[in-house]
Amino acid sequence: MFTKPLILAIETSCDDTSAAVISGGRMLSNVVHTQSLHRKYGGVVPELASRAHQAKIIPTIEEALHVAGVERKLLDAIAFTRGPGLLGSLLVGVTTAKALAMALTIPLIEVHHMQAHVLAHFIDQPHPATPFICLTVSGGHTQIILVKSPYDLEILGQTIDDAAGEAFDKAGKMLGLDYPAGPELDRLAKKGSARFEFNKPEMPDFDFSFSGLKTSILYKLRKWVKEDPDFISNNLEDLCASVQRSIVDILLDKVITAARSHKISEIAIAGGVSANSELRHRLKLKCQSENWKCHIPKFEYCTDNAGMIAMAAHYKYLKGDFSDHSVSPAARLEF
Ligand code: KG4
Ligand code: ZN
Repeated sequence: MFTKPLILAIETSCDDTSAAVISGGRMLSNVVHTQSLHRKYGGVVPELASRAHQAKIIPTIEEALHVAGVERKLLDAIAFTRGPGLLGSLLVGVTTAKALAMALTIPLIEVHHMQAHVLAHFIDQPHPATPFICLTVSGGHTQIILVKSPYDLEILGQTIDDAAGEAFDKAGKMLGLDYPAGPELDRLAKKGSARFEFNKPEMPDFDFSFSGLKTSILYKLRKWVKEDPDFISNNLEDLCASVQRSIVDILLDKVITAARSHKISEIAIAGGVSANSELRHRLKLKCQSENWKCHIPKFEYCTDNAGMIAMAAHYKYLKGDFSDHSVSPAARLEF
C-alpha cells in the first residue's frame, strides 16, 4: 500500500531536530522542532544543541511515523545527515539512524546536507528542468551550484568567509536583534527605506565574500552612534532595509552572472536565506524580465528539514548507494 522505497530520514546538523517519511518520492510527513534555547546566547551553543537533539530525536521520529501513518517495520531504509554541521549534533542523528537500521535490518543512507538543500527542489511538482542553477544560501554556506541531474551537482562558486545567513545574523546583532536575526531583519526591512550605503566586495568569478560588508556596517554604525547615541533605534527600519539590500545585491549579482555565462534559463534558490522576501521578490522580477524560469521552494523546505534529506535519500536508494555501519559524522564535508 505504500510505494517503495519507504524511507525515514533524520536531520540534526545544527539546531533543528527533524524527521520525515517519504514513499516512492512523495513526502508523507516532515516534522521539524527548532531549538529556541539558543536565542538568549546570541548564537547556537553546540553542546546545548546536541543535548537537545538527544532529548527530542525519538519523539520527533515517532511523530513523523505517526503523521505518515507508517509502522516502523514497513520501512525500506533509514537516511541521515552525515555533514556538514556541528559534530555533536550530527552524532545524535548518525547513531540513531544506525541503531534503527541495525534493529530493522534495512539499509542506511548518508546524505550531504548542502546537496539536500538543492534536492529539496525535487520534492514538489513541477520541479526545475535540468540543467539549472541553484543559489544555496544558509546560516553556514553560500554556494552557486550547477545541477545537471539529481546525481550530478557542480559547485561553481562559494563564500570565502561568512555565509549569507551569517551576514544577516551578525548585522542584525549589531542592530540589537535577537539570534537568528535574518527573519526579524527581513520583517523590519519591509517598513524601511534602503537609504544607507555600505561597501560591496569585489570578488572574482562566482565566489562570495561578506566580511568586508560586515566591517563596513560595523565602522559606519560606530561613527553614526558616536554622533547620535540613539541613531540605531531612530533608524532601525531603514538600517535593516539597507543591510538587506546590500546582501541581496551581492547574491543576485553573482547568480545572474552565473546564469548568463553558463547560458542557463532555470534558476532556483535554496537554504534558510531563500525565505528572505526581498531575495524572493527581486529574483522573480529578474527572471520575468530575462524570460527565465524561477524556482522557489515552499517555506517549510527552505530552512533545515528532514524532508530534503528524505528526497536526497530517495535518489540514492534508486541507485543502491548505501552506507556502511562504520560511517561517521563529518563536520566539514565536501562534494
Ligand atoms: O538553512 P538554515 O535553516 O540553516 C543552516 O543550515 O544554516 O539557514 C538558517 C539561516 C539563518 O542565518 C537565518 O537568519 C537565515 O537562514 N534566515 C533568513 C530568513 N529566514 C532565515 N535570512 C534572511 N531573511 C529571512 N527571511
Ligand atoms: Zn541548512
